[in-house]
Amino acid sequence: MGALAGRVAVITGAGRGIGREHALLFAQEGAAVVVNDLGGSNAGEGTDTGPAQEVVREIVATGGKAVANTDDVATWDGAQKLVDQAVAEFGGLDVVVNNAGILRDAFLAGMSEAQWDAVIAVHLKGHAAVLHHAAAYWKQQSKAGNQPKAAVINTASASGTTLPNAGQANYGAAKAGIAALTLVAAEELARYGVRVNAIAPIARTRLTLATPGMGEMLAAEAESSEGGFDAFAPANIAPLVAYLAAEMCPITGKVFAVQGGAISELAGWHDVKTIETEGPWLIDDIAARLP
Ligand SMILES: NC(=O)c1ccc[n+]([C@@H]2O[C@H](COP(=O)([O-])OP(=O)(O)OC[C@H]3O[C@@H](n4cnc5c(N)ncnc54)[C@H](O)[C@@H]3O)[C@@H](O)[C@H]2O)c1
Repeated sequence: MGALAGRVAVITGAGRGIGREHALLFAQEGAAVVVNDLGGSNAGEGTDTGPAQEVVREIVATGGKAVANTDDVATWDGAQKLVDQAVAEFGGLDVVVNNAGILRDAFLAGMSEAQWDAVIAVHLKGHAAVLHHAAAYWKQQSKAGNQPKAAVINTASASGTTLPNAGQANYGAAKAGIAALTLVAAEELARYGVRVNAIAPIARTRLTLATPGMGEMLAAEAESSEGGFDAFAPANIAPLVAYLAAEMCPITGKVFAVQGGAISELAGWHDVKTIETEGPWLIDDIAARLP
């Protein structure tokens, strides 16, 4: 029996890249999957129902269960339709994988309001919107006496955690926000039987292939690994996400970096050094004592 047998999962941005691999593995492991993808460009422009439908076709062709959803997760309304569709088509909801993403890189001095807003909307609001509607569903189930055994896996990034990246203020801020959102949601939703974790993946997808400096390296790695283990294949990310989604997994409130054959647990903000005073601070005192 598959690790996700009988689980109903919603995966956002599952028409391409990392999300597509999550959807294929989830279905192979026995989950019924709602494959969400708006189908736009790297920058989040336009829409296309093709990518979500193509992944559903692939899953169904191999005997799996999946339906397509092409709503925009960056709106409360789109996220509501996505959650409602899982419940209507498959009779419930056990797993949410928030993965949809875009990039509009720019240095702060030249960043437009639209570049800032679009990236924050898809990533940070897109995570919060789906979480909100899923949490409302799980709360209602819990109050009705059907305590969920549910899981959420969010998608952060090195850009918002371990590797601040010049030119990605919008993206890094959204991804750091997603790491914080994960910890808050884990605290809030435990009472409804919901675990919440996040990953910070690295893989070869259209997003990273288009990133200056990274694309060439990833393409070269693909050629040199021919026949062997491809450390940047997006399929390397899915097994961790499937484990975090499984009913047997006890983990909650964690953020994991994952790439190739390596999984690292990340630790967040913590006190490094404290200075104290008996009375009000003097500026010169702070200047002398703060590292
Ligand atoms: N590839 C990496 O190395 C890497 C590194 C760190 C984080 N990530 C994150 O992983 C996630 C997946 O990225 P990827 O690299 O597979 O990129 P990708 O472009 O291949 O896939 C992202 C998918 O999200 C969809 N999408 C975008 N906006 C949407 C919206 N509003 N509603 C629904 N779907 C939407 C896109 O159409 C696309 O198919 C993103 O959150 C990304 O930030 C990726």
